[in-house]
Amino acid sequence: MSITSSITRSRLHIASGLVLAFFVASHFINHALGISSIDLMEAGRASFNVIWRSVPGTLLLYGALFSHFVLALDALWRRGSFRMPVGEALKITFGLALPFLLAEHVIATRLEFSLTGYIRGYTEVLRSMWTSSGTVAFYTTALVVTWAHGCLGIWFWLRSKVWFHRVAPIFHMIAVIVPVLAMLGVYSGLYAAGDAAPTPNSATPLPLATLYRITYSFYVAFLLVIGGVIVVKFIPKRHKIRISYSDGKTVSINPGLSVLEASRSAGIPHVSVCGGRGRCSTCRVQILDGLEGQPAAETRELATLRSIGAGGNVRLACQLRPTHDLTVLLLVDVGSTLSAARRAPNAIAGQERMVAALFCDLRSFTELSEKKLPYDVVFLLNRYFTVVDQAVESSGGMVDKFIGDGAIALFGIETSYPQACRQALHAAVRIAEGIAKLNASVSAELDAPLRIAMGLHAGPAIVGRMGHGKATSLTAIGDTINTASRLEGLAKQKNVELVVSADLVKIAGVTFPGHAVEELEIRGRAAKLETWIVVKATDISTALSNRATEPVA
Ligand code: FES
Repeated sequence: MSITSSITRSRLHIASGLVLAFFVASHFINHALGISSIDLMEAGRASFNVIWRSVPGTLLLYGALFSHFVLALDALWRRGSFRMPVGEALKITFGLALPFLLAEHVIATRLEFSLTGYIRGYTEVLRSMWTSSGTVAFYTTALVVTWAHGCLGIWFWLRSKVWFHRVAPIFHMIAVIVPVLAMLGVYSGLYAAGDAAPTPNSATPLPLATLYRITYSFYVAFLLVIGGVIVVKFIPKRHKIRISYSDGKTVSINPGLSVLEASRSAGIPHVSVCGGRGRCSTCRVQILDGLEGQPAAETRELATLRSIGAGGNVRLACQLRPTHDLTVLLLVDVGSTLSAARRAPNAIAGQERMVAALFCDLRSFTELSEKKLPYDVVFLLNRYFTVVDQAVESSGGMVDKFIGDGAIALFGIETSYPQACRQALHAAVRIAEGIAKLNASVSAELDAPLRIAMGLHAGPAIVGRMGHGKATSLTAIGDTINTASRLEGLAKQKNVELVVSADLVKIAGVTFPGHAVEELEIRGRAAKLETWIVVKATDISTALSNRATEPVA
């Protein structure tokens, strides 16, 4: 059982969920009109039905409902275990409860109308709720569970987006206010329903016994389908797949589990910064044995593996669901990264953010250092690191790390995306200025001046605290970071100080007249990347300062 690629599944799931969320929100707002009067509720219902009982509205709504249900079953089928965080467990439980909570209401208000033309309006539905306090409690539960499922779904979808944290208070407010108003509307309507005139009808309703029969048939069908998937999926299988780890541990799993789920089920520390969404590559494993005949990587996995230039025997553990035994080596061996990250102050545990990344490197430094005493090399490197650090910090970024004679800096951890791009460009200029000053001050000790090569790119990256123990730090990974690194390599090849992606320059809201634009092949990227080639980074300072502007840092 498999539904198309993981990206398509995820997009379809979000799209169908949004249609349903919109329907539910408008339905609840309609309920809220009951705070004023039943007549207003009925008037709202008439407008509501113009959309949702039209042919396109019906196709959209029930198409979304069907897709969402099938995708939920597919997700259930793909799950390796019921071990999951509380929020996710609630979302799934609420989702699985919905067919049983809503079937009767949908059949009595919509299916009956489609079969007979009978309109069961607010007055009738509210009067039917009077039959017992149990019915009121049942409908209240259905309302709360439906809304909670939708809110959790939206929260899981958006929680890693950087902008969501800015609008989260509004989201939380809507999440509380809408159902409360809807309940108040329903409860007010309950008191008014006794005196209200029933909705005019020319059609005859289905006999109550028929409605019950249809409802019970739906219950049984849902029970069989949902229960069937759970039972077939989770009864222990005789055929087990054995995952062997390079340190000698082995785990036996049911077919269908991913390698990451196998690690988790056995308590083997396995990094998964993006939470198993195939986007960060931190869960990657090298297949030491048993790769042949395993399911091929799907689009998302292929894209992520390509972006890090992974070898043919490397797979993402969160995406690979082995069909036979295999032996793996965990490639990102950071043990308790995430728990360390969560303990760390201001921890960011794997959020997707829009960032700008700057890579810089001293050119020909190895040759230069071979002619110097180690003490001189360390002295020179520390002066250079000071230049980079001051340039990055004064521009509003943070140095991620220094590696050899190179440095990686990130912008956008605390600032907006366009501002991050401008900050990165300013930092590049300041680094070039700093290197020029450094050259002037140490010229007597150098055969040739220090030369810098920088690469800049911007886009989404997974940002989080990674490492182990005291070596834990905030860093970023992903295609954006890899591309910035490749651009720095191209700056060296082209003998220029700066190669910057046109994307970053555009988002920064600047342009660099007089400098060349080239489409470059970037290793690991399918399409060419448009880039600005800047021979001397200080030459772009005028273009940057000409831009009207918010402060850089
Ligand atoms: S956890 Fe597998 S790619 Fe992020």
